Amino acid sequence: MPNDCSHPFEKSATAPDAYAPVYDGLQERPFPRQLGMEVTAFCNLHCAMCHNATLKRPKGRMPFELFRRCVDEVAELSPSTEVWLSFNGEPLLEPELLLRMLAYAKSLRLTSLNLNSNGTRLDDTLVEPLLASGLDLVVFGIDGLTSETYSRVRLGGDRDCVYANVERFLALRLACATGPEIMVQFIEMEENAHEREAFVDYWLSRGAILKVRRKLSWGGRMNTALAVPPERRTACPWSVNLMHVCWDGTVPRCCGDTDGTEAVGNVWHESLSTLWRRMAPNRAAQLDGRFDQLPARCATCRDWMVGVSEKIRPTWGAFSDQPAPAESVAEW
Ligand SMILES: C[S@@+](CC[C@H](N)C(=O)[O-])C[C@H]1O[C@@H](n2cnc3c(N)ncnc32)[C@H](O)[C@@H]1O
Ligand code: SF4
Ligand code: SF4
Repeated sequence: MPNDCSHPFEKSATAPDAYAPVYDGLQERPFPRQLGMEVTAFCNLHCAMCHNATLKRPKGRMPFELFRRCVDEVAELSPSTEVWLSFNGEPLLEPELLLRMLAYAKSLRLTSLNLNSNGTRLDDTLVEPLLASGLDLVVFGIDGLTSETYSRVRLGGDRDCVYANVERFLALRLACATGPEIMVQFIEMEENAHEREAFVDYWLSRGAILKVRRKLSWGGRMNTALAVPPERRTACPWSVNLMHVCWDGTVPRCCGDTDGTEAVGNVWHESLSTLWRRMAPNRAAQLDGRFDQLPARCATCRDWMVGVSEKIRPTWGAFSDQPAPAESVAEW
């Protein structure tokens, strides 16, 4: 693997128990800790671990007005809620809409604006506007180091193009005094497990933060190696912390309900807080350990086992001097 812009590095890992399969600190909240907004359900890839290609609900893009309604409420009730501009789909397929959403959310002084992207559409015209958009964090889902592995996981993507896009974005960010944190994500799975260390080293040497996470089953649709004995069952972090809004306003019960067949309502008609309250009985059952009272999907879905992701920071560059986060909850 060519390494022409490498930099000496040491790894600065998060606490050793940060990747544990169980959680501390999950608690009932009056408003979601994390909100996932589906900018678009369309995607240009069909990744091996993702359910997007098999979605049964119609795909579309989120009207700006719907986004505004939601973030206005976040600003009023909980400006520190993490807003993630993704659920299904690839947000950079809608660059103008995305930048407009970010500008608006920033104008409301929301404190945590986050983006997941596959990096395929991060062309020259988008780099500077995104760096200046007020985003706090960008997570690029890459998952493979060699072309062979990348193309087994990120089906339809061009490995070299994505690497060039993300490396350019990262280099420009590292040259600026401010801007979003940049993470490069590796979802551990059968197809790429052999490349984990090399992938981590490659991106650390370029100054990125590594986010290594386990593979979800998306409510039981995909195979996953997640395995925790039933006696160690804990509350599902997705249902306790996170709320999603699909492009058409549908609010699914949890991220395992990707088709919204167990939806609790629609934000065109009701507020986020009303819909969050409607899900309270499920959260209470989760937090009280009354797992036999949960909806049927929770009996077979193993996504509660996912654990927190592992963050590995480089020891040089803009992202090196942060303390290891004391996180105890899974992140989107
Ligand atoms: C559905 S994607 C949408 C955003 C964008 N298209 C991307 O790939 O980053 C949202 C996040 O879920 C991650 N993801 C997809 N399938 C996963 C799985 N089976 N387990 C864990 N994370 C997954 C993606 O890598 C991304 O970080
Ligand atoms: S790029 Fe993102 S949304 Fe698209 S298939 Fe891959 S993980 Fe799913
Ligand atoms: S365990 Fe239940 S609440 Fe958690 S993601 Fe799966 S279906 Fe949803």
